[in-house]
Amino acid sequence: MRRTTVSPLPFSPLPFSPLPFSRSFASAAACAFVLAAAVVGCGGAAPQPAAAPRASSLLATLQSSGLDPAKLPDSPKLLDDALRDRVMDSFTVSLGLKCAGCHDGVNYEASTPNKRVALGMWQHFVRGLKLAGGQPLWCDSCHQGRATFLDRSDDDALAAWMDANFVGKLVRSDGGKHACATCHGTPFDGHFLDGWQKGSVGG
Ligand code: HEC
Ligand code: HEC
Ligand code: HEC
Repeated sequence: MRRTTVSPLPFSPLPFSPLPFSRSFASAAACAFVLAAAVVGCGGAAPQPAAAPRASSLLATLQSSGLDPAKLPDSPKLLDDALRDRVMDSFTVSLGLKCAGCHDGVNYEASTPNKRVALGMWQHFVRGLKLAGGQPLWCDSCHQGRATFLDRSDDDALAAWMDANFVGKLVRSDGGKHACATCHGTPFDGHFLDGWQKGSVGG
């Protein structure tokens, strides 16, 4: 009966996907069992489980336009206009957002919560981390077309996912010891993006 939870069509072309209905049905049954719940998820916060970080499919084109991932400036606004625009396009593709998903209309200089988070991602994640194999990270490495992708319905399952993917598959660009604290700080802050949203992004 849980056939559609492993649908072979994750990007269903049908306007009305059967997935949400069967998913809530399956989740209700599965939530009685901790192990099954870790697989299916209870509450359905994320439509699909988050995928592991992977090499960017956008970076090669940006590099051929002159971007050096090893020497990113403090902000994409410091790139020359043509390259900055290509980088902005890569943000929209990576996150599945339009420009206005981060910017206040066409007032591109105005500060917004998502723009501040994006700048934190640029400074701390894209500049500060690499894939364990040494390849640079780009926004699409983690986001893979979605602005939000974490399944927050089960803290323990998410912590295990973070350990396997955000600790195990990434390293720090500065060669320092990489652990939860690289991103969450000490003491552990589970909601550090709230601070980034408000603009308290460190150097
Ligand atoms: C995921 C968020 C995000 C998306 C989507 C996005 N931008 Fe940006 N944009 C930023 C950030 C972050 C900066 C740099 C902000 C800073 O340093 O204060 C920026 C800077 C800019 C700037 C320079 C502004 C300045 O202060 O000099 C322009 C112009 C711009 N973006 C245009 C665009 C356009 C056009 C699109 C759509 C194709 C777009 N952006 C999509 C996050 C985004
Ligand atoms: C190491 C992985 C990683 C990289 C690389 C990364 N992000 Fe993120 N980003 C995350 C996670 C995790 C979240 C929280 C997602 C959630 O809540 O489901 C997030 C959230 C965001 C959000 C807030 C979305 C929302 O609607 O709440 C924005 C904006 C964002 N990232 C922009 C970017 C941009 C732009 C880049 C590239 C410069 C980038 N990210 C690179 C992991 C990453
Ligand atoms: C590469 C950066 C990174 C690393 C390393 C990392 N996380 Fe996360 N984690 C995030 C981001 C981004 C969020 C979303 C934070 C927010 O919403 O403010 C998050 C959220 C979480 C949450 C959900 C908090 C909530 O209440 O919604 C838990 C639990 C968590 N992480 C556990 C861990 C644990 C445990 C480790 C170490 C094994 C770890 N994380 C390592 C980036 C990271």
